[in-house]
Amino acid sequence: MTETKQRSSFSGRIGFVLAAAGSAVGLGNLWRFPYLAAKYGGGIFLLVYIILAITFGFGLMVAEIAIGRKTGLSAVGAYKKLNKKFSFLGWLTSIVPMIILPYYCVIGGWVAKYLSVYVSGQGQAAAEDSFFSGFISGTWPPIFWFFLFVAVTAVIVLFGVEKGVERASKIMMPILVVLSLVIAMYSVTRPGALEGVKYYLLPNFSDLTPGTLANTLLGAVGQLFYSMSLAMGIMITYGSYMKKENDLEKAVGQIEIFDTGIALLAGLMIIPAVFAFTGAAPEKPGPGLMFQALPKVFNSMSFGAVFGAIFFLLVLFAALTSAISLMETVVSIFQDKFGWKRRPTCALVAAGCLVLGCVSCLGYSVWDQVTVIGMQFLDFFDFISNSVIMPIVALLTCICIGYVVGTKTVSEEVKLSSRFRREKLFVVVIKYFAPICLVLILISSVLSAFGVMKI
Ligand code: PHE
Repeated sequence: MTETKQRSSFSGRIGFVLAAAGSAVGLGNLWRFPYLAAKYGGGIFLLVYIILAITFGFGLMVAEIAIGRKTGLSAVGAYKKLNKKFSFLGWLTSIVPMIILPYYCVIGGWVAKYLSVYVSGQGQAAAEDSFFSGFISGTWPPIFWFFLFVAVTAVIVLFGVEKGVERASKIMMPILVVLSLVIAMYSVTRPGALEGVKYYLLPNFSDLTPGTLANTLLGAVGQLFYSMSLAMGIMITYGSYMKKENDLEKAVGQIEIFDTGIALLAGLMIIPAVFAFTGAAPEKPGPGLMFQALPKVFNSMSFGAVFGAIFFLLVLFAALTSAISLMETVVSIFQDKFGWKRRPTCALVAAGCLVLGCVSCLGYSVWDQVTVIGMQFLDFFDFISNSVIMPIVALLTCICIGYVVGTKTVSEEVKLSSRFRREKLFVVVIKYFAPICLVLILISSVLSAFGVMKI
């Protein structure tokens, strides 16, 4: 990713789509989407998310990939090349993966722990209500699994062997999709699960207030950025490796369908299961939802232990490919800026990640009384990146493209490879829809975080 080196490129559109989807599909779809959907009222969240994905997500992803392909640079260099005044935006963008990586690895560690639980035949214990809370509130076990996850990620990045993992994940991903379909089908046919399916798929407008809508919107936008790896410079870097003759608009459509499809499926696997096994909507859904709900499903299935082990192995791969792409991004930012060598940079990034990640781990055990603006550490890091910095980055990107360099710059780039069929939609989103939405969201997120607005 060093900017001075000749850029390699993806072999074709499908190669590009698979690589970008590999970065996009990860814990965001499987772990984060279902608990947010449960937290923000099920069907309403789903509806808002899908509308945002086809407008907002489409516009921003086209813009980021086009900027990357046009400039041939990653975020910091790309914004600078577009307009000198916007070089700071490249830097702001770079902070996001630095905040996300540590806590992403903490969750990666949880997945690794659950894999070990199933492999060692303790699946039944994992289905107990207290198992998950017992695990995260113990001080050392979560730190151990987190360290292990960081170590594996760092070794892969250090030795530049991502290719092997990516190749493996190209086989694992389709299996993950098929297995998720099987689990979702099993889950929705449990007695009592139908209520959950309704809750998840049908929007209930009766409890909607302006406050809950604002909060749902905030949650959905943050999730959109997170899940599609937007507003953090990653799609710009991917775009810089894309060939000029590949159809950019079509590629964006495919990535979106892939990413959203897997998220929807994950919700269908988890939310109805909660209804079936506890008889009601999830109480205070949080980051533990997937780890609490799925073991109950596996426990009631024949061959559940085998399903559990395979499932967590596949999720571990999805998490690993995303963690690798996050760490790689952070390492190359430092390398590009300071001209550091790869090894010490990797070591430094891994060390920084360990320190920050431990804070997130300890936030559930010895520091569980400590909160930052009312949130536990992991939630705080998640909030500050997804609900504050990313909307700011997205807003500034819209201003930069819509009003400073002009949407034409992007349109021309897209038209190098195809007719830009949704050009009008793109222009309206970047110039009006997204900026207005983002300003409202930012205001409400700051107000609610500081408790001014009770949502
Ligand atoms: N989009 C990934 C997910 O859904 C997370 C991610 C973010 C991956 C940033 C790479 C970079 O899990």
